[in-house]
Parts: sequence; structure tokens; C-alpha cells
Amino acid sequence: MKLSTLAGSHIVATGSAVPDIKISNEILSRIVDTSDTWISTRTGIKERRLLPKHKSIIDLAADAANEALDNALLSPSDIDLIILATSSQNDLFGSASQLQAAIKAKNAMGFDITAACSGFLIGLITASQFIQTGSYKNILIVGADILSRWVDWSDRSTCILFGDGAGAAIIQNTQKNDILGFHLNTNGAEAKQLSISYQYSPEATSSSYRQQSPPSGRYNYLRMNGKEVYKFAVSNVPKSIKKSLNELQISTDDISWLLLHQANQRILEAVADKLSIPTEKVVSNIAQYGNTSAASIPIALNECFEKGKICNGDIIVIAGFGAGLTWGTLVVQWNAIESN
Ligand code: ACO
Repeated sequence: MKLSTLAGSHIVATGSAVPDIKISNEILSRIVDTSDTWISTRTGIKERRLLPKHKSIIDLAADAANEALDNALLSPSDIDLIILATSSQNDLFGSASQLQAAIKAKNAMGFDITAACSGFLIGLITASQFIQTGSYKNILIVGADILSRWVDWSDRSTCILFGDGAGAAIIQNTQKNDILGFHLNTNGAEAKQLSISYQYSPEATSSSYRQQSPPSGRYNYLRMNGKEVYKFAVSNVPKSIKKSLNELQISTDDISWLLLHQANQRILEAVADKLSIPTEKVVSNIAQYGNTSAASIPIALNECFEKGKICNGDIIVIAGFGAGLTWGTLVVQWNAIESN
């Protein structure tokens, strides 16, 4: 979708936070029947971070948000809206308000987006709509997930993949516009391929429930059909990127950076290959963090800014995919302008 903008959205600053505890493939191989060789060759992951029990997702999200605020030279009270993308919130009613309190952003309204690994991308696109209509001046978007608390640590097919982390970006209403266009998709018919579903206890669905027992149950562990998710990502993400670029009349040669959700090194390489984008333009930090779900894109974006990789005028193609199933692309042309 090519955007006709009333006001420009500029990515002013980013930030990120990961827990100190590192879980290497060797450590995992003492917990489940796996090996560093299997995990490295199938996924590219070498280690992931784990949030200790006494810390909450809000602690991580607040650290990432505060780093972005410092980098933007903004005070928390300058923020008008907080969008927290997470699927591991500590309150089903939403956790953005806890983040608002933690960073003392007293003027900000906050809400959550639950869309797993596509969550940050959807949050950034949602935020840009508020900016481009002139409704808000400064918006904080945080992607944070602690899926270590939702995986089954005896299931080797999933527990090796995920890590905990948070990343943040602040976008601002400025004259120049960084957000060129986007595409978002959902295929709910395939939701079963990746889910953390709620299951009623047997008595809740029996006739006794209909007579008088209140319903009860609990959330299952994360369940994923890895092969199907792999095929879904490798087939749909390149199409989404091509569609977005075609509408903007941008060639893949013009791309400075391809920043995909960090799910699996083989997915990153297969998508880049389908688009004929050379490996050196593909952002990858999956070896250190694994799949941090909604946090993966902003952590990688922040790393690019920290390392000075992103220069004025660079075109960054950001694509996310995951549970839902959802996927999408955002095309950014970053302007190195002063914030106002
Ligand atoms: N260690 C050793 N062996 C393993 C492990 C492990 N950790 N896990 C599975 N195996 C075994 C299987 O049991 C199977 O053995 P078998 O042949 O004897 O039956 C064999 O390895 C092959 O298993 P597959 O599942 O076919 O392995 P595959 O090559 O598909 O790799 C993987 C699995 C890495 C999960 C891959 O499918 C993948 O990356 N899928 C995409 C996942 C993804 O991108 N998820 C995004 C989620 S984002 C979100 O929204 C949360």
C-alpha cells in the first residue's frame, strides 16, 4: 500500500534490552535430547537469553523504552501514545498501561497488540497512521516477549528456538517521511500451525458444567508445526516484499538492508535468495538471541543503528511473520534528520 501522507513519520530513535542469562546450545543439550550441531545447522541459533523469575516483561520493556527515550533526547512526558506488541503479557487485559506507569509517561495513552512475531511491525504501521493523520506527535512502540515462560522445556522441537527480549522505537511527526508503504496479511485458517491455546478442563465441557459448574481451564504450552510454518514463511514473505516494492517502484537492487523477523537463519537465507538480495544486506543476529518473537525486529533494528549501519536515505525492507498466521512488509527510507 503506497501511502499518501498528511504528515511524515520519522524513526527518531530505537532501544533494546535482553536479560543477562545466556542459555547456550550445550546447556540445552543437557535438558533435552539435542545437540549444538543440530540446532546450529537447522536454525543458526547458538544461544538465547532467559529472563529470571523475579523479573517481569515490564522490566524488559521499560529498559528498552528508556534506552529509546535517551537516544531520542525525549522525556517520558513527551510520549503521546505507547503501543506494546507482546504475546506474553502479564495481564490479559493488556500490559501497556503497566509500561506507561513504569516509565512515567504520564501523558501517554497505551494499548497492546497481540500478534506474535508480526506484532512490532503491526505496531509500527499502526503508530504511523496516528502520526500521518496528525493525531499524535511522539509514539513509543515496544516489542517484547518472554516465550521462555510459555514453551514446554521438555519439547526439543520448540524450546531450542525461543529467547526473551525487548526492543523499542520512537516515531515522530516531522516534515520528512520515513515510512513509504506496507502490506499486511492474515490467514486465520492456518492458525492451528502455531498457537498458545486455551483449553477447558474436561468437566467444564461435560453436562455437569451446563448444569452448574463454572468453566475453568488453562493455557497450553506453545505448539508449532515447524515444517508448515517454515514453508509458509518462505513462500509468503518474498511475495509480500515484492508486492510492496512493486507498488513503490523500488527494485530489490535499491534495498540497503533486508531486516526479517529472526526466526531461523535458513528462512532468512531462503527469502533473500528468492529476492536475489546478497547475504551482506541481510540483517541477522539470530545466533545470539534466537527467536525473540515481537522483540526480534526492533532488537535487530536497534543493533543496526548502534553499529552505524543505517545511513541517510537507506532503504530498509522490514518483514515479519508468525502466529495468526500473520505476515507483512514495511518499506522504510530513513532520513537522518534532527528531531523537532
Ligand atoms: N534436536 C535434535 N533433533 C530434533 C530436534 C532437536 N532440537 N527437534 C526436532 N528434531 C528431530 C525430529 O524429531 C525429527 O526426527 P525424525 O526425523 O527422527 O522424526 C528430525 O529432527 C527432523 O525434524 P523436523 O521438524 O522435520 O526438522 P526441520 O528441519 O523442519 O527443523 C525447525 C525444525 C527448525 C523448527 C524448522 O521447521 C523451522 O525453523 N520452522 C520454522 C519455525 C518458525 O519460523 N517459527 C516462527 C515462529 S514465530 C512466532 O509467531 C512465535
